[in-house]
Amino acid sequence: MRTVHVPASVPYDVQIGPGLLAGLGDTLRALFPRAGRYLVVTDDQVGPLWLQKVVCPLSAADLPFSVYTLPHGEASKTAEKLVDILNFAAAEHFTRSDVFLALGGGMVGDLTGFAAACYMRGVAYVQLPTTLLAAIDSSVGGKTAVDLPAGKNLMGAFWQPRAVVCDTDTLSTLPQADFISGCAEVIKTAVLFDEPLFAQLERTGRDFDREDLIARCVGHKRDVVAEDEFDTGRRALLNLGHTLGHAVEAESNYSLSHGQAVAIGLAVVCRAAAKTGVCAADVAARVDAILEKFGLPIRTDAPFPALMERMLSDKKRSGGTINVIGGTINVIVPEAIGRCAIRPMGTDGAAAFMKAGL
Ligand code: GLY
Repeated sequence: MRTVHVPASVPYDVQIGPGLLAGLGDTLRALFPRAGRYLVVTDDQVGPLWLQKVVCPLSAADLPFSVYTLPHGEASKTAEKLVDILNFAAAEHFTRSDVFLALGGGMVGDLTGFAAACYMRGVAYVQLPTTLLAAIDSSVGGKTAVDLPAGKNLMGAFWQPRAVVCDTDTLSTLPQADFISGCAEVIKTAVLFDEPLFAQLERTGRDFDREDLIARCVGHKRDVVAEDEFDTGRRALLNLGHTLGHAVEAESNYSLSHGQAVAIGLAVVCRAAAKTGVCAADVAARVDAILEKFGLPIRTDAPFPALMERMLSDKKRSGGTINVIGGTINVIVPEAIGRCAIRPMGTDGAAAFMKAGL
């Protein structure tokens, strides 16, 4: 097992390894000696596969629990479902000293975290990520949210989990498409912070050591969160590839997964950086090659004006993944594999830059 400590305003540990759910009762007893009850939130895809692995150790440790199951998919990440969870917790007489458990991927984690932030002005919660994306990114760092009709993640809060227990066995039931989608964020992390990891992934492809890799990516995320927990500066780096990626995702009517769209966004921004002299040509060539090796797309045929239109209005729709201040867009650009920068550009400059990478 690996442990990564996150020194946020509320510090916590991320545990990563196989079989960790079996010890969940002891983990929770140690963390919450006074908790009365646990509310397990999951979805109808993850629940049938992994809920028993959570509730059996709770029962064995004599920890009372209730279960709330959501329909799977981003369509559940709504204010209505948030209120449903809060009503359920209230009907079940949960109190401020009780604890929510988020068993699932990013949707379950974001929604449960936000419900925990809201219920009785804030209760503790623990993330139990079951997707690669949730394991390396969304379960760590305390960003919680639901979507509004006007856009993704528009209603939310920073609310750190009290622990993240990442049982790597759960990845064994992840559909291959979701695993590959999560790999886009892994490659993004390597481009941002870790050339040796990138070189390792070039050799291994998808056949990497999952525990090692998750711990390494979580370590990078921890460093960013420790420096900029509330996303006022350096944390924006994590949006590498997302500026165009969100536009591509929306323009495809969500037929592309988030990871596929991020892969295209990452490839475009790297090619743009190479063409405009921000980085060497081999950076773009290596990023294109590794994305293709992982089975991810690197190009879009969506019309550029439509993508640009979406990018510029994204500030209203994506919970701040594109930062437009007074006509200036902060674009995340690679200077080398493992080193990226936040470059403010005018909207015309950003458009010309992106176009160079298409
Ligand atoms: N997933 C991006 C962030 O946590 O800031």
